[in-house]
Amino acid sequence: MSAFVDALASRLPPGRVSIDPADLLQYGRDWTRDWTPAPSAVTWPRSTAEVVEVLHISRHFGVHVVPSGGRTGLAGGAVARQGEVVLSLERMNRIDPVDELGQTVRVQAGAITQIVQEHCERAGLTWPIDLAAKGSSTIGGNLATNAGGLNVVRYGHARHWVLGLQVVLASGEVVEVGGALEKDNTGLDLRQLFIGSEGTLGIVTEATLKLTRVPGKLDVLLFGVDGLPAALRLLREVRQGAPGLLHAFEYFTDFCASQVVEHRKLPWPLRNRPHAYVLVELEAPDAAVLEFWLGVALGVPGVSDGVVAQSSKQARELWAYREDITASLSAAAQRHGVGAPHKNDVALPLALLEAFCAELDGDWRQTRKAWPLALFGHLGDGNLHLNTLPPAGLPPTDWPSACATADRELFALVRRHGGSISAEHGVGLVKKPYLHLTRSPAEIAVMRAVKAALDPDNFLNPGKIFDP
Ligand code: MLT
Ligand code: ZN
Repeated sequence: MSAFVDALASRLPPGRVSIDPADLLQYGRDWTRDWTPAPSAVTWPRSTAEVVEVLHISRHFGVHVVPSGGRTGLAGGAVARQGEVVLSLERMNRIDPVDELGQTVRVQAGAITQIVQEHCERAGLTWPIDLAAKGSSTIGGNLATNAGGLNVVRYGHARHWVLGLQVVLASGEVVEVGGALEKDNTGLDLRQLFIGSEGTLGIVTEATLKLTRVPGKLDVLLFGVDGLPAALRLLREVRQGAPGLLHAFEYFTDFCASQVVEHRKLPWPLRNRPHAYVLVELEAPDAAVLEFWLGVALGVPGVSDGVVAQSSKQARELWAYREDITASLSAAAQRHGVGAPHKNDVALPLALLEAFCAELDGDWRQTRKAWPLALFGHLGDGNLHLNTLPPAGLPPTDWPSACATADRELFALVRRHGGSISAEHGVGLVKKPYLHLTRSPAEIAVMRAVKAALDPDNFLNPGKIFDP
């Protein structure tokens, strides 16, 4: 292995390679804690040519490559556990000037999502993918995982906001797919092949992002509801009658709120503690019309309370109850003696969500009454996050198998209701064993054929999504 590291060190400029155990640990994993990172080295190329060089050297020494962005993924897609080299793109963070007429910007893959957004905002434009992790996630990671987030209900996923990609293939060849063209109807859309492929088909090194105007004034409302059916009735009302454009429709239970209240030392968000909350964000409604509509929304059966943020500070405070759930649950997991909560991220057709949740509350929940369960998510997209913590008294060694059983039963339910086992977090290592529950044998066969065509030696990010 040292010959490999020596070759990297001698063929790349100084400071591009590390075998420091702290770097191997930090760069060998994402936000998951289920695997022990064990990369052989970490490299930080600064240009596409250096990425190509790393691939050539790695191939020569038979070392597989795990591409790495901001490492905020939740599916183990950036975990290196078998002596791979981690190719971190974080030093490739150039952001070009915004093309204001074309409403595009060209960036390198390691540019931080929030920094790209702030750069574009100076021209009145934005890349509209809003994630709780945007301060650390990178554009390359967002594209590799087809990130979703808080405003999918308005803008869709990352894949809708890309015009062109530069990709280094497993062979080391550099290809430009797409460009700055809004319209280019010439055969297969290869951009979309790489977006969401979790670094298994090629390494995205640059992207031309499509931008949109920065939204106008956003009003944030928080409702108390007596359960998911009421939240869905509120969604119907929002879609039919709310003034302004719907920007976010988020759901979280009282248990989630209690975790944030405890962790962040915040007051309870509403006067009374409802069973659950819905956070609605609307762009630019007229104030008087919004006030009138709030009265209508409070008349929806099961909606018990509601407030409108009166300032941007208050809006941020209301958002904290939703955005801080993940961090608060991670802190709670430490107190429960595990590295992270056990996470699931499922999608259901909106029309079947109520039936799904009713069944979930049946056998699945009844056999796990003692499990702390955080149910939250992007309800407007039919996307639920289920995070669980180990119940008191369960020996820590029994927790993984208890979670595996719970997952199998959960995914069977998801499948019966026509849902997906991974709405927005991707597949990586975490969901790989269950891919067949959402994708048909024919679809997986096509995926395998694509992988075999682009990376026949399983050189890039091996073991992720499916085994070839
Ligand atoms: C979120 O929406 O906050 C994350 O995607 C969910 C999670 O941490 O499970
Ligand atoms: Zn989410």
